[in-house]
Amino acid sequence: MPVTTVTTIAELRDRLDAARAAEQRVGFVPTMGFLHEGHASLMRAARAETDVVVTSIFVNPLQFAPHEDLDAYPRDLAGDAALAEDNGVDLLFVPSGGEMYPGRMRTSVSVGEVAAPLEGHSRPTHFDGVATVVTKLFAIVGPCRAYFGEKDFQQLAVVRTMVRDLSIPVEVVGCPTVREADGLAMSSRNAYLTPEQRAASPVVHRALRTGVAAIEAGATDPAEVRAAMAALIDAEPLAELDYAEVVDAATLAVPDPLEGTLRLLVAARFGAARLIDNVGASVGATAEAASTEGSST
Ligand code: PAF
Repeated sequence: MPVTTVTTIAELRDRLDAARAAEQRVGFVPTMGFLHEGHASLMRAARAETDVVVTSIFVNPLQFAPHEDLDAYPRDLAGDAALAEDNGVDLLFVPSGGEMYPGRMRTSVSVGEVAAPLEGHSRPTHFDGVATVVTKLFAIVGPCRAYFGEKDFQQLAVVRTMVRDLSIPVEVVGCPTVREADGLAMSSRNAYLTPEQRAASPVVHRALRTGVAAIEAGATDPAEVRAAMAALIDAEPLAELDYAEVVDAATLAVPDPLEGTLRLLVAARFGAARLIDNVGASVGATAEAASTEGSST
């Protein structure tokens, strides 16, 4: 079926209300476009589990700080429409800035401590922007299953918290990170990497695996796991470490000693590209409770 592009909130609501009235389940994949295999995996999950699949493409200005890459953010609407169609998307919602934010935004959604560390520390206004636009998109799309990648692990935690706190009628589904063959997590921002930086970038995943290996070897001191990961990034001349951390997967607080279901997260700059990635691990918890990439000791 060809994908149908919708640009107004009113038309999208009409179509999705009609689908729900006909007892069809709505699947929603929110994106900022420049779609890749990671997004495609979310679309295929939505296609398999729901009846009408909608993907939004909106580069949300609220989640970029003034010095960040809003204007440079890569865009390819024709390529995005083709990828969406190939992966079973029915409706592509591509609102203009004016459609989403017709006037000055006075309302902002803040999610509290889950948004504060890690990305929240490095990008202090980022998660308010994400939570605000996702709340708005959920209000537009209505009751649905919404699919998010685990690659943005903290974003997923922020969205889950917000949905629970505000009783938003959306079921949030987290999907595994999709990687290149050498371990680099797929991201639209990988487009910023020069060939040399691209060649160096798998060090992020190697650092995470090193952290997991330290936990598997019995490390329960978070500082030891942090140092093991940071050493790899610091040894790569093209990479500049932002953070390497190990946290409780549910609260994002740092347990000391490490215990339960954990998430290891790294953020590093490679020139203009800031890459983030994460993997799961566990100490004394069931292996299933951690991610498929995780470990258990
Ligand atoms: O993950 C993204 O692409 C964005 O943060 C999202 C969820 C579409 C909100 O703008």
